[in-house]
Amino acid sequence: MQQILITGGAGYIGSHTAVALVNAGFEPIIIDNFSNSNKKVLDGLEKILNQSIKCYEGDCNDRELMRQIFSENNLSGVIHFAASKAVGESTQIPLKYYSNNINSLIILLETMKEFKVKDIVFSSSCTVYGQPDELPVKESTPRKDAESPYGNTKKICEDILIDHVKSGAKARVVALRYFNPIGAHPSSLIGELPLGVPANLIPFVTQTGAGIREKITVFGDDYDTLDGTCVRDYIHVMDLADAHVKSIQFLADKQDSFFDLFNVGTGNGNTVMEVIKAFEKVSGAPLNYEIGPRRSGDIEKVWANTDKVSKVLGWIPQYNLEDALKDAWNWQVSLEK
Ligand code: WQD
Repeated sequence: MQQILITGGAGYIGSHTAVALVNAGFEPIIIDNFSNSNKKVLDGLEKILNQSIKCYEGDCNDRELMRQIFSENNLSGVIHFAASKAVGESTQIPLKYYSNNINSLIILLETMKEFKVKDIVFSSSCTVYGQPDELPVKESTPRKDAESPYGNTKKICEDILIDHVKSGAKARVVALRYFNPIGAHPSSLIGELPLGVPANLIPFVTQTGAGIREKITVFGDDYDTLDGTCVRDYIHVMDLADAHVKSIQFLADKQDSFFDLFNVGTGNGNTVMEVIKAFEKVSGAPLNYEIGPRRSGDIEKVWANTDKVSKVLGWIPQYNLEDALKDAWNWQVSLEK
């Protein structure tokens, strides 16, 4: 059985990808420092999969630990999620973001080279596009100056991977530019676990629905959109997980020194108000919200052109916005129990 190392595998997208990998016949191995996750995630995975997933507690910046993991296992590929990812926080502590996100990738690539592991799927983000001039946004759309140090680390890491492959290193790389991951595994045994006050829309919506937050503030309704609120491409985390499995399978027959990148979104955009209305339908209750000022750094509208990911990777999203909101709500309700 092919072993795939998932860095940050106890995190939100990493844990869902572990499920998708097992379902596709792979053996995932996790490394996670649990700085933004919880060991209960491993219990949830065991319940879903009826098997425990090997997990190393530690940091991808720990070169000796990484060498130990590679020497103790027979890895055929890596999916690299581990990174600091809070946009707002990255503007307050940029040095942590640059050192963590960039050094961990470099140490991973050097370790992969030493142990002759070629395949890596990298977690990038649509944030590299900034506010695209043309929508839906294509992979060929030029990247813009990042809106945050977090977004800049994603651009820099993409460039590191491209230069690494160009140097003739026997690396086979897929970078996936995520849009807005939402939802949870339909079992409600794993899901998003925001620490503290959620920065992202959906956990704030579900916590407001559960009465944990008194109300949600809609950050601006004076944008040039359908109803004045921002547009995003919300993608079910299980669809996103599947895109990682398809990327690993895609790399299996590529020549050495390979790089490609894909947008991973639904191809549809929804406004914040459309999300709130869809959630009210799913939860069966009105949501307490107010309109507030714009949040600095927010772009107005973005959604993915998915021609390339569907044609080249053969990936098609299976879930829609309501499916994702239902799974996110069921997960929130299960957390309350
Ligand atoms: C979505 C929309 C807000 C909260 C960021 C990163 C991206 C990825 C996902 C890491 C926006 C509005 C939100 C609230 C609101 N992160 N909103 N009230 O900013 O599109 O993307 O998170 O990988 O890289 O850039 O996601 O969920 O924060 O916001 O009105 O309480 O919801 O203004 O329009 P965003 P988000």
